[in-house]
Formats: sequence, structure tokens, C-alpha cells
Amino acid sequence: MAEIIEHDVIIFGTGLAGLRAALEMARKSDGKINIGLVSKVQLNRAHSVCAEGGTGAVLREEEGDNLVLHAWDTIKGSDFLADQDAVFRFVELCPVEILLLDQWGCPWSRREDGRILQRPFGGHSYPRSTMAADKTGFFEMQTLYDNLLKYKDSFTRYDEVYVTSIIIENNEFCALTAYDACNGRFLVYRGKALLIATGGLGTLYSFTTYSQTVTGDGQALAYRAGLGLEDSEFIQFHPTGLVPSGILMTEGCRGEGGYLINSKNERFMERYAPKMMELAPRDIVSRSMMTEILEGRGFSGPDGLDYLYLDLRHLGPQKIYSKLPLIREVCMKFLGIDPVFDPIPVRPVAHYSMGGIETDINGKTTVNNIWAAGEVACVSIHGANRLGCNSTAECLVYGGITGREIVEFMKSQPQYPDLPNDKIENEENFILKEMLNKKGTENPYTLKTELRDTMGRYAGVFRTGDDLKKAFSKVKELKSRFKNIYVKDKGIIYNSNLINVLEIRNLLDLACVVLAGAILREESRGGHARVDFPKRDDEKWLKHTLMYYNEDKDPKVDFKPVNITRWKPVERKY
Ligand code: FUM
Repeated sequence: MAEIIEHDVIIFGTGLAGLRAALEMARKSDGKINIGLVSKVQLNRAHSVCAEGGTGAVLREEEGDNLVLHAWDTIKGSDFLADQDAVFRFVELCPVEILLLDQWGCPWSRREDGRILQRPFGGHSYPRSTMAADKTGFFEMQTLYDNLLKYKDSFTRYDEVYVTSIIIENNEFCALTAYDACNGRFLVYRGKALLIATGGLGTLYSFTTYSQTVTGDGQALAYRAGLGLEDSEFIQFHPTGLVPSGILMTEGCRGEGGYLINSKNERFMERYAPKMMELAPRDIVSRSMMTEILEGRGFSGPDGLDYLYLDLRHLGPQKIYSKLPLIREVCMKFLGIDPVFDPIPVRPVAHYSMGGIETDINGKTTVNNIWAAGEVACVSIHGANRLGCNSTAECLVYGGITGREIVEFMKSQPQYPDLPNDKIENEENFILKEMLNKKGTENPYTLKTELRDTMGRYAGVFRTGDDLKKAFSKVKELKSRFKNIYVKDKGIIYNSNLINVLEIRNLLDLACVVLAGAILREESRGGHARVDFPKRDDEKWLKHTLMYYNEDKDPKVDFKPVNITRWKPVERKY
């Protein structure tokens, strides 16, 4: 029998957006809202702690930056697919978040004059990446959790609890169902409101900056529960993943003055973005790098991972020690090289999903009492290509906004929706009987490897309709093989094998959504570069895609217009 746990608000996912929302709810309600924090990992192991380079915000109007410029950079960077009203809302609140974190004790890097330091980042026309050396996410998370502890009676942590479904009835969130890995119990989290803040889906690709835990659970469960996924075809490839591990070499390296060089020792970005060079937006730098590699000006790497060099040597040891200490440590530990003396082997790497659960400008989904914030959501601020340092900023801003929205919602004194016991019982049987007892012949980890290789090979930086279709039919084959998998571990306590199988199921559904959108979108825009449709086509494609779950069939497709309030699309030049 499932155990029922009740909280006013359930927060599913405890990275930056989830923690920021929890803190906002706690402080705005003076600790009166009772929150359940549900996460499949221990709280400070959420992937947000891996965020390195910084958080974007306008802090220096008197020195030349301004909000309109941040909005323009973001919209131009998005290849004009961002909703412009949402972008303005976002940029206005970024500085507020930086100053709040400052008051809460975040150890921002400082200038000589004691003011908060900011460094240049790709696609931004002013240095506005606010940083704590190159461990920004780690310090932001610590700061938020430290401050949340002031309200320790208002929240309960449920770490290492794997959510298996979101139950919605009559367009209202009723409950989450979950498997508690620590003791094997099947749980039901009942809430009057739900915030989904589970992050991205980057392990769809094998060469990725993401932690292995980032498997798109929130998006996949929301999708299967009937919510729409918006603009999922847009996957961001960050230019500098360490070869061969994929670990992020922060854009801060280039912000501090690092160069990219090819095997002919050329700073090749001169050819592609003569003004902004290595600090052009990521879609452009990644395409330039892949062009260099495909045209034979890369270095030969392991498993087909040919690479280029990120060169920091000219920065000198002091800058590297003080501004990029994590980069140095990772290079030394993972490759035995020291960037003070050696160039770093890098290539474009899966890093971010611009799409996500469809929300309005307040982070509210189409369900009455469900909000989404952070990478899992598509508000849409990033459109077809996100600028660096706008992601942690979005997590903070939209954690704050959704936190306040939920506090307002709670003032209307909502009741707990009735629990649909049949659905709960079905889910418990499905997880703990059907899935756990799977005795087929397919190894789930083989399926996962095939899935990730397929995505990397056919749905990477450059795409064609033929390749995407090949990928789609392969993913469908994998989905049908998934029905015949085996779960080797039949134990009930800490069954990571069972959890992995459920994660793979989520990734398979999301792969279908990404590919369906990518096949459909016959144009090149931002991170979606179709070799067979090399131009942006505003006439046909200046619109968002929406995908809905359709049982065993391909996703159902819909569209919605882009909200253009200020700037008509123009050609992007950098
Ligand atoms: O390069 C980086 O530090 C990544 C930042 C981001 O994705 O915003």
C-alpha cells in the first residue's frame, strides 16, 4: 500500500530553480507554507552545482550596460524565437537576484574596488556574467540552502526519492507517485500546488556536460501527464567540452581571453565571427568548430572525438589560479595536463535544452496548480539559442517568480484535490510489479548506449532531414525493444537498476519529441542547423512548436506564435 505524504506545495527537483522557489515561498509566507522538496539525488548534488561560468545581469548602468541591451542580446542570440515580453521581464529581475544573493552571503568574485566582478560571455555586448570564480552554481546553491535553513520548520527534504508519475485530474495536479530508494516504499506526495524544477535532458547524448542523473524526468512525466512540450528540437551544443569526458570547460575561459585554435595554429573564429570571435553566441561558435573539424583542421581524438584546442596559456598563472581554478583542477585530474602550460582539447558538447514544459510568462503551465521553472520549463526566454550565463539567471529569476506566484495562489486557500486511488494503485503495480519483474532479453544499458549514440550521430550540431528520420526510426525500434527489457536487480532497497530503467523510458519518449520537432522544422535557426534548409525561414517558421503525448504513436503537434513586442527579426551578424 502506498504511503501518502501531504504538503501544501510540492517542489519536484531541488536544483537552483527549486531551491530559489522554496526560499521565496518560505520568506514571503514567513514560513507558513508547508513545502515538500522531492529529489532523486541528495540536495546539493543537483546538477546546478556544476554551473561554472556565471549568472547574467545588468549591474553597471553607470559604466555603460543597460537592460534594453541585455534584452536585445538575448533576443538576437535566440535567433528571434524568444518571446520578447518574457525576455524583458527576465532581464529586469536578473540584477535583483544578484543583489539578493549578495545579501544572503554568496561569495561573488570582486573587483579591486570591492564591487561585484563581471566577466564577458558569449553573445553579450557587455561583460555581465556575475561569477564566484568558476564555481558559480556551487556557491549559489550553498547560499540558497543556507538561507532556506532559517525556515527549517517549513520544509521537509525527501532525498533519493524517484518520482514515477504526475497525476492530474480535471486539469488539476493531485499527486506525485514515487519510489523511495532508501527504503523501497512506494509514496504518494499530495499537494495543493506543484512546482516542477527538475532541469534538463542532456544525457540523451553520450558526449555531454551533464551529470548522469540528468535524464529529463520532469519533462517526460509532464508530457505523459498531458502537458505540452515547447520548442524541444532546440538543443544547445556548448563549444568547449573536454575531450574525451565532455566535462564543461566554461565559456569563462574565453571570457577571460582564452583562444580557440585549429591544427594549423589558426585562430579560426576570425573567419566566422570577425567581431566577437570566440565570444560569439554558442550556436555560431559550435558550428564554426564543427566546420573546422569536418574540413580536416582538427586533431584526431579517441572514439571519433576529434578536437580543437582551447588555449589559456597566454593568460598567465595568476589569472588561471584566481578566475579558473576548477578548470585547472579538472584538466589536471582528468587529463594530466595543466592549462597554465598546455592547450586543452575540446569540441562541441550537448549542454542545454532550450525547449521544455510550456508555461506562461509567470512560469504557470496550462494546468491550474502546476508551475515549472528553470531548464525544465520553456517560458520562452532562450528561443532557438540560449546565451551563456542566462540559465542560472533564469533559474533564480523564475524560481523567485514562481515562488511568489504560488504564495499568491495559496492565499486563495485551495483544498487538496481528491486522490484518484485507481491511478495510484495502477502506478504502484506498474513500477513495483510489472517493471521490477521484467525478465525480457534486452539489456536496458545497451538500449541507452544505442539511444545516445544515435542522437549524437544524427541529431547533433548539423542535421539533415534524412539523418533525423534515421534517428527517429531507430528510437522507435529502441522503444519497442524496451518492452522486452530485463531488470536484473530484483531487490527493493536502493534499486538503482530499476531507477535507471525508468530514466531510460523517459529519455526514449523525449528523444521522440526532440526528433519529431527537428524533422518538422525545415529551416535553420539558432541551435537547429539543417544542412538541407540552411536559411532561417521567418515566413513559415517564426513560431513555437508544441508536442503532446499520443500513447504509442508519434507526438501530436501544434504551434503557437512568437510574442514579438519590440524588435522584428533581422540577420544575425557578430
Ligand atoms: O560555460 C559555462 O560556464 C556555462 C554557462 C551556461 O551554460 O550558462
